[in-house]
Amino acid sequence: MELKGLILSGGTGSRLRPITHTSAKQLVPVANKPVLYYGIEALRNAGISDIGIVVGETAPEIEAAVGDGSNWDVNITYIPQEAPLGLAHAVLTAEDFLGDSSFVMYLGDNLLRDGIEELVESFVSNSPDALILLQEVPNPESYGVAECEGSEVRRLVEKPKDPRSNLALVGIYMFTPEIFQCAREIKPSARGELEITDAIQCLIDQGRRVESHVVQGWWKDTGKLEDMLEANRLILDALEGDIRGKVESSEIHGRVVIEDGARVSDCTIRGPVIIGENAYVHDSYIGPYTSIYYDSEVGNSEIEHSIILEQSKVIDLRGRMEGSLIGKNVQIIRLEQRPRAYRFMVGDNSWIGII
Ligand code: TTP
Repeated sequence: MELKGLILSGGTGSRLRPITHTSAKQLVPVANKPVLYYGIEALRNAGISDIGIVVGETAPEIEAAVGDGSNWDVNITYIPQEAPLGLAHAVLTAEDFLGDSSFVMYLGDNLLRDGIEELVESFVSNSPDALILLQEVPNPESYGVAECEGSEVRRLVEKPKDPRSNLALVGIYMFTPEIFQCAREIKPSARGELEITDAIQCLIDQGRRVESHVVQGWWKDTGKLEDMLEANRLILDALEGDIRGKVESSEIHGRVVIEDGARVSDCTIRGPVIIGENAYVHDSYIGPYTSIYYDSEVGNSEIEHSIILEQSKVIDLRGRMEGSLIGKNVQIIRLEQRPRAYRFMVGDNSWIGII
């Protein structure tokens, strides 16, 4: 059975504003690689080569980044969704592309450490009507939660006030075409979306077999700042050092990647850290779990546990920066002019903490 892949890369991204005012959250780099690429690789590694990507307002940016999929040896089809009306709505939007194939649906902002190869094998060999992935979480009331008997799913509840299980739904699902009829039957939820949990519950209510698998390795949904930083930390934890750029008068400790064309001078770098192509880092301390993307500059500053996107500058910060996500083309610089004052040009929904 040839499975197709469906990656959801539309959505609003409201929890990651202001980054998502101008860019797709699925393209924010984690350890200097857009989140979306990890999903494409997970599908490709599971032998899936026909992949549809559901796109919304950020379609041009996603298409420019991913292209036709030839970089990964897969075929990509773009599927425009008229508005972010829910995950089950995205499935319906992709019906023509999916046809009568079973498929893996992968939320484009999710990361799963161990990939999906074995799960796809078990889906194909046990042939349930759907297979969902679950993970034990300490705060199930913030997730879609599954109640199971053995590995069979009995009930799904979206953000239960009084959860009866601590198994949260991970953003990766495997479906047969049975899901379409259920996605058509359900009504929008209180937040106005066609919920995938309701569509799966409809499968269960019709007596279909919905299996679950509890994921042991880490899983991250990168939809908010803390989770994005945590995903960056988890990926960097497995980083292998590789110095291709130029290093002058600097101390490098631990696992550090310095990409082609990057220059590091008069710095202390304590890994795991990744410094992107043509970045320039000087007179600075770069501490663990920091990713600096291409063409950026850090000078005379101390940074830890942060992500800096492309073409940004952080110069002469007096205090250490940590737990931060800096967008593209941002400049944080010290001004010498008088009167001495803070001067900001900050987009909507930004967040600045000063000391
Ligand atoms: P979510 O993170 O649940 O939703 P969102 O992107 O609208 O974000 P926020 O809640 O912060 O406003 O979506 C999960 C993934 O699915 C994400 O990659 C976006 C994608 N998606 C679609 O493609 N279509 C949709 O209708 C929805 C709701 C999400």
